[in-house]
Amino acid sequence: MSPRNPFRPTFGASPHHWAGRQTILDDFREGIADGPGDPHRSLIISGARGIGKTVLLTELEDIAAEAGWIVLRATGREDTVDVLVDSTIPEKIRQLDPPATRALTGVGVTGLGRIEVDRIAEDKPAPTLTSRMRELLSLLRGAGVLITVDEVQDADPDALSALANGYQDLVRDDEEVALVMAGLSHGVGQLLDLPGTTFLRRARRYELGPLTDTDAAVTLRETAESGGLPFVERAVPAAVDIARGYPYLVQLVGYLAFRTAARDGSSAISRSAVEAIREEAVETMGVQVHHPSLKGLPPAQLNYLQAMSDLVFDVGDDAAAVSTSEIAAELGKTPNATTDTRGKLLERGLIDAAGWGRVAFTLPYMANFLRGGGRINRIS
Ligand SMILES: Nc1ncnc2c1ncn2[C@@H]1O[C@H](COP(=O)(O)OP(=O)(O)OP(=O)(O)O)[C@@H](O)[C@H]1O
Ligand SMILES: [Mg+2]
Repeated sequence: MSPRNPFRPTFGASPHHWAGRQTILDDFREGIADGPGDPHRSLIISGARGIGKTVLLTELEDIAAEAGWIVLRATGREDTVDVLVDSTIPEKIRQLDPPATRALTGVGVTGLGRIEVDRIAEDKPAPTLTSRMRELLSLLRGAGVLITVDEVQDADPDALSALANGYQDLVRDDEEVALVMAGLSHGVGQLLDLPGTTFLRRARRYELGPLTDTDAAVTLRETAESGGLPFVERAVPAAVDIARGYPYLVQLVGYLAFRTAARDGSSAISRSAVEAIREEAVETMGVQVHHPSLKGLPPAQLNYLQAMSDLVFDVGDDAAAVSTSEIAAELGKTPNATTDTRGKLLERGLIDAAGWGRVAFTLPYMANFLRGGGRINRIS
C-alpha cells in the first residue's frame, strides 16, 4: 500500500505541520491570558488569496479553546450578525444550559406551556448581539468568548458596524471577549474606511506575507517525513524554489512530489520527482488561484496586467518589478492616464508597489498565467 499523502493543498484545510506566523500566535495567546482590554484580543488579518488566513483563524480558535474559551465562528458570506444572534449563540446557550433544566411554568401541560413561553418571548425586546453575548457569558463562570469572522471582504457593511458596536459595548464593560476577523486585503481596507467601523480600526492589524524560505523548507521536510516518505536533502531547495513562500503552493508542491515518489515506489522524494511536478503545480495554481482572482476584472485593469506580464517576461523573472512608465508605454498611454488603473490594482492586492515607480505581481506565477492568455488551458 502506498503511504498516505500528508500534504493538504486545500483551501481552509489546516496543515499537518504549521509554518511561521509565530508572532501572531504568541501575541494572541498572551492577549487571552492577560484579561479584558488587552489589545491583542481584537485582530484583523488580511492578505492575498491562499496566503493562509483561514487556517490562521483556526489556529487562533484552538488557542482560545485551549484556554477554556467558547469559540463562535461566523463568515462575511452570510448575514453575519443575524446568524450569530439567532442561531450560533442560542445554540451554544442551549448546549451549556439545556432548556430541560430550566424551571418552566406550565411544563407537563405541553400545549399550554408552549403558549406561555411564546407569550413571554413576545414581550421581551428583540435580542441583540450584546444581549445574547451577555447571556452566554453569564453561563461561563469567567471563561471568555472568541468571535471569528472569515471572508470579511464579503460582509455587509451594516452587519459589520452592528458587530463592531456590539463588540465595543462588551469591551467597554470589561467582558471576557475577543474578536478576530480575516479577509482579502482589498476588502478589509475598504470596510475599515466605513464610518460605522471606527472601533475596528483600533484592532491589531496583520497583513500576511509569504513564508520565509526557511519556514517553507521546514514544513516541507517535516510534513513529508511524517508521511513516511522524506525528501532527499537536495530536493528541498528545488521544492522551496517552486513554492516561493506561498503557503498554498508549499502544500501543493509537497503533495504532488510526494504522490509522484509514492507512485514510483520510491523510498524518498528525489530532486527529479520535484522537478517533474513543477509545471503541474504552476497550472493548478492558475486554476485554483489566478483564475478566480481575475474573475470580473474590468478590461482596463486586465490590459494593464497583460502589459505588465509582457515586460516581466522580458526580464525573465516572474517576480521582477517593472517600471510603471514602461507599462504605460506598452499600453500606448501616458503614465498619468494609467495612474487610476494602477491604483485599483494595488487596492485589489493583485500588484504591489516595489520601489519608486515600479510594481510587481503579488501572487507567484501570475505573469506566467497571463502570458497564457489568462485562460485555463488544461485542468489536470
Ligand atoms: N502557516 C502555514 N503553514 C503551512 N501551510 C499553510 C499555512 N498557512 C496556510 N497553509 C496552507 O495554505 C493553503 C491555503 O490556506 P487558507 O485556506 O488558510 O488560505 P486563505 O488565505 O484563507 O485563502 P482564501 O483567501 O482563498 O480564503 C492551505 O492548503 C493551507 O493548509
Ligand atoms: Mg480562506
